[in-house]
Amino acid sequence: MSTQKFATNALHAGHDVTKTGGTRAVPIYQTTSYVFNNAEHAANLFGLAEPGFIYTRLNNPTNDILEQRLAALEGGIAAVVTASGTAALTTALLVLLKSGDHIVASNSLYGGTYNLLNVTLPRLGITTTFVDPSNPDNFTKASKENTRVFFAETLGNPKLDVLDLKAISAEAKAFKVPFIVDNTVPSPYLLNPIAYGADIVIHSLTKYISGNGTSLGGAIIDAGNFDWSNGKFPEFTEPSAGYHGLVYHEALGNAAFIAKVRIEGLRDFGGALSPFNAFQIIQGLETLPIRIQKHSENALALAEWLEAHEDVEWVNYPGLKSSKYYELGQQYLPKGQSGIVTFGLKGGYESAKKVADQTKLFSLLANIGDTKSLIIHPASTTHQQLSDEQQLATGVSKDLIRLSVGIEDIEDLKADLKAVFANIKNPQLA
Ligand SMILES: Cc1ncc(COP(=O)(O)O)c(C=O)c1O
Repeated sequence: MSTQKFATNALHAGHDVTKTGGTRAVPIYQTTSYVFNNAEHAANLFGLAEPGFIYTRLNNPTNDILEQRLAALEGGIAAVVTASGTAALTTALLVLLKSGDHIVASNSLYGGTYNLLNVTLPRLGITTTFVDPSNPDNFTKASKENTRVFFAETLGNPKLDVLDLKAISAEAKAFKVPFIVDNTVPSPYLLNPIAYGADIVIHSLTKYISGNGTSLGGAIIDAGNFDWSNGKFPEFTEPSAGYHGLVYHEALGNAAFIAKVRIEGLRDFGGALSPFNAFQIIQGLETLPIRIQKHSENALALAEWLEAHEDVEWVNYPGLKSSKYYELGQQYLPKGQSGIVTFGLKGGYESAKKVADQTKLFSLLANIGDTKSLIIHPASTTHQQLSDEQQLATGVSKDLIRLSVGIEDIEDLKADLKAVFANIKNPQLA
């Protein structure tokens, strides 16, 4: 594992220029497949007797560099990149779980993930109990004999609750199930969940890691610490019918999970990342440390400005002293609390929609983590399919406006919101 620091790894990890013809930039290996030396070489690759590239749905040299870089940045043993953050989560869960299994998940989740767990996976017989993660023992309390995974977002989107990782990973360890976390919102620069006991880290690379808003991508990073032979995961200790009798734990030890993700998960579910997108994501990743610091700095400044504004009813940002997550934020995210800020205006739901309509610099769209500032009204968009009760559980009130604060000049961002607030006719202020 690399001993170099984060910013150096963000630029160099995984790329040995002597193996890519001396190219200083990571090349795009835009190929579906790889010519085998001969039939024996082909058989060895398929039989895992020697490493190498087979087919881009399984592995690709551009993707491989991104995978090594992400593993280095998160402190994991290995990573697999996928077509989107959603593909990463779905692939990780479907590699581990089968019909009849159960997940305990935080209720503070991105709306798409909530739907996956609440509606789609139950159709396959995989059910989820959602719990309030602010009490870590809720995870154990909701566990059943068939529980196989604890899942949470390290910084919930859009609730912005900071997870007590140490406490929840202790619960997962005691219950002998892997603790899977989605670390998309902090990015690995602000938080490394593996250092606090997480077993598997999921990222949507679409967001801060890419930052340029051009490409979808996802990643699964394995800490390599979980004991898959603890009796709860027989598919790791018994011969796999899906891979000619391979006993994953015996053959691959602590790399059993990430190997299964690649050789069965990517093979069978097909959620591979395009090498072109991997290239785009690598361009972004190189500057992540500088960008995410600026996002955090701007978000804090804007949250403080909003808090002092007379038209604003409430502001939520874990870097604000008034936030109930401030202490956990200082503990787990001391370098900055990322770029998402939520707030409500005194005019409530109607004013929220108007703000989303009228900003000029903040673009109205469904994404986060772009270098450019973004805005959305989740109750009428991303979280529309959830019931009112579910919306509240995921942290979405009707009046909530979510900002993804970009790296523009802070004075221009304030001016954009100020002009909109002045435009909104608010009967309560009149
Ligand atoms: C926290 C979080 N995780 C996962 C996802 C899904 O990522 P993708 O859009 O790359 O599938 C999102 C998307 O907004 C997200 O905010």
